[in-house]
Amino acid sequence: MIAYINGKFIPKDRIAISPEDRGFLFADGAYEVICSYNGNLFKIDEHLERLRRSLGELRIEGPPINHLRTVAEGLIERNELSDVHAMIYIQVTRGAAPRKHIFPEKATPATVYANASAFQPLYKERENGITVITLPDIRWDRCDIKSVALLPNVLACQQAKERGAVEAVFIRNGFITEGSHTNFCAVFDDQLFTHPANNHILGGITRQVVLGLCTQLGVPFKESPILENELKNADEAMVLGTTYEILPVVQVDDWQVGNGTPGPITRELQHAYRRATTS
Ligand SMILES: Cc1ncc(COP(=O)(O)O)c(C=O)c1O
Repeated sequence: MIAYINGKFIPKDRIAISPEDRGFLFADGAYEVICSYNGNLFKIDEHLERLRRSLGELRIEGPPINHLRTVAEGLIERNELSDVHAMIYIQVTRGAAPRKHIFPEKATPATVYANASAFQPLYKERENGITVITLPDIRWDRCDIKSVALLPNVLACQQAKERGAVEAVFIRNGFITEGSHTNFCAVFDDQLFTHPANNHILGGITRQVVLGLCTQLGVPFKESPILENELKNADEAMVLGTTYEILPVVQVDDWQVGNGTPGPITRELQHAYRRATTS
């Protein structure tokens, strides 16, 4: 596999990163994941804009966005992924410098790493739906930054797996925020609800696409937090993410959502999303 590191495309197994890289020492960086559908980099502008914003909030001077677009395209081409479903990962850290909390000298260049790989979507889960568990949201107050510091998310997702679920959904002050690596939506009386895109969630690109599809399809929606206690009244629920697209949620902890099968609004959105990625 050919990957990208600091201006070069080289075999991934030849990449070496300094043990003083601040990504390694402090999780001091941001990242993006983009899907490529037969060479079409879906919503790449939105992903790169979010990366620019994340880096800005972290005060990391990253490479120009147009350069990252060329990198993403270059990885698809060099790895011969133009005819398949692929995933691109881009990470930018504050670079390598002796370990001190304060930022390194201005001259320290950011570390820019990216790779692309073929990707097998979760077709079965997309069709049949998934189970999620709920957990307290113990994350910080800047979940809007797509930081590589993901320990609470990692621990939550692992706990979900160990309990036979696919995703963990976080609860903060009695309200559902989002999943460990997805956004969360629920449908009540034909209206879709999802947490507002504020500092308590990552403003997902898939979430944005889905809200746009709701407008197109005439599905009313409200960006308003869902009370954990009210979730049992939901007719449908789903989690959204770049690689998952739209996964129906048919069970939460030990109870069923609606009748325990993916609902009609979820299906309509899945079909519309499919069309959007193939057009
Ligand atoms: C915490 C969190 N929320 C939401 C999402 C979904 O974002 P997107 O749709 O841009 O992939 C992700 C994706 O990684 C995430 O990590």
